[in-house]
Amino acid sequence: MTLPELRAALDAVLPGVRKDLEDLARIPSVAFPGFDHGHVQRSADATAALLRAEGMEVEIVQVGEGQPAVIGRIPAPPGAPTVLLYAHHDVQPAGDPSSWDQDDPFEPVERDGRLYGRGVADDKAGIMAHVAALRAHGSRLPVGVTVFVEGEEEYGSATFDELIELHKDKLAADVIVIADSANWAVGAPALTTSLRGIVNAFVEVSTLSHAVHSGMFGGASPDALTALCRLLATLHDENGDVAIEGLSRTSAGVPDDYPSDRFRSEAGVLDGVDLIGSDRIVDRIWTKPSATVLGIDAPGAEESANALQPSARAKVSIRIGPGDRQEGAFELLKKHLESRAPWGAQVRVTLDHSGNPCVIDPSGPGYEAARDALRAAWDGAEPVNIGIGGSIPFIATFQAAFPEATILVTGIEDPDSRAHGPNESLHLAEFAKACLAEALLLSNLAAGGK
Ligand code: BES
Ligand code: MN
Repeated sequence: MTLPELRAALDAVLPGVRKDLEDLARIPSVAFPGFDHGHVQRSADATAALLRAEGMEVEIVQVGEGQPAVIGRIPAPPGAPTVLLYAHHDVQPAGDPSSWDQDDPFEPVERDGRLYGRGVADDKAGIMAHVAALRAHGSRLPVGVTVFVEGEEEYGSATFDELIELHKDKLAADVIVIADSANWAVGAPALTTSLRGIVNAFVEVSTLSHAVHSGMFGGASPDALTALCRLLATLHDENGDVAIEGLSRTSAGVPDDYPSDRFRSEAGVLDGVDLIGSDRIVDRIWTKPSATVLGIDAPGAEESANALQPSARAKVSIRIGPGDRQEGAFELLKKHLESRAPWGAQVRVTLDHSGNPCVIDPSGPGYEAARDALRAAWDGAEPVNIGIGGSIPFIATFQAAFPEATILVTGIEDPDSRAHGPNESLHLAEFAKACLAEALLLSNLAAGGK
């Protein structure tokens, strides 16, 4: 199809795509332990139904305790390449509903050109971009397409490697499109060429065999919560750079920086609050490590008693730059914390989950096809290569399993999408462009041949 034909075809299917996105977003498919995984099954079923309706041969696959993934396939016309389209149908927990501006995070609401709700961007919009591209081409799909929609990405893709191994013959493709990243800005399409890895660990600090009266014993016996705070404070140096020694600290391979005013505003940094760390912002958030305390197990402030706590626990998360590996980085974190036990406190560090960073070479015909598609869909705007500080650990698995395939990581989110937080949203006009770009990409890849 020509560009005007595809544009018209896409315009015709967009209202249905929007409705199906809302229906998917109504399913609270959280794969975290403790959540009702019946919803994850329902979102897998709903995804399977959407793919079947496009004429795909569909199966729902699962490994052991893992969550269901959906694989849909349409074979390639003779001589045409096969494209694997990836997204995930699980979402982050919504957190406290009262921190959202809508009553129910799982009931999508449109305001000012954005659709709000948990998962409407990350990553149910990814699923629907794939469906939109299929619908735009209808029965005249120019390439073979395999859609792979995972069900536990937000919980670390624990069974991903096994799923790939088990279904490798079905998933083999010339090009892999991962619609689970962000664009550089509204109006500025991007291809993501590096992502950080992640190491999440629990650190437990113990100082006493039991809680005691803070007046009777305070002053000479250390409480575990204060000891934990002192320990957590060692994760950064005075400058706010990560103080864990041995982690990779490279420079982002882009000429420009993220303007700091824009960064402050997009991140919501309050007036007067400093940014932390040194070097360019793009280095700090894309290729250098970061360290964050995600949560603490300790008495709540309001209900706490006048007592010294015998033990306290935190979840610490570090993002690791391209060049590091998850196992080595965990050992460095563990060594850092164990060797800095304040006041001789007992410190125990255990791994929660981790994932590897990745770097992608943005060259070759697949990248030219993608840049042409993005440029056309964004009315001539030149696509940029960006890094992302977040993690998609399985990209490294894809790279190892299909070393010949071109991997394209495309944007569904924009800097205001607030994925993982309250008021997650999708910019609807940008989403329409992402759908058009994906439909065009399939045509461009067909024109390039196998
Ligand atoms: N879609 C995100 C990755 C991402 C983050 C892309 C920020 C663009 C901007 C993905 O779903 C995600 O959140 N991944 C987790 C991975 C973890 C569970 C191993 C993350 O980064 O926290
Ligand atoms: Mn995602």
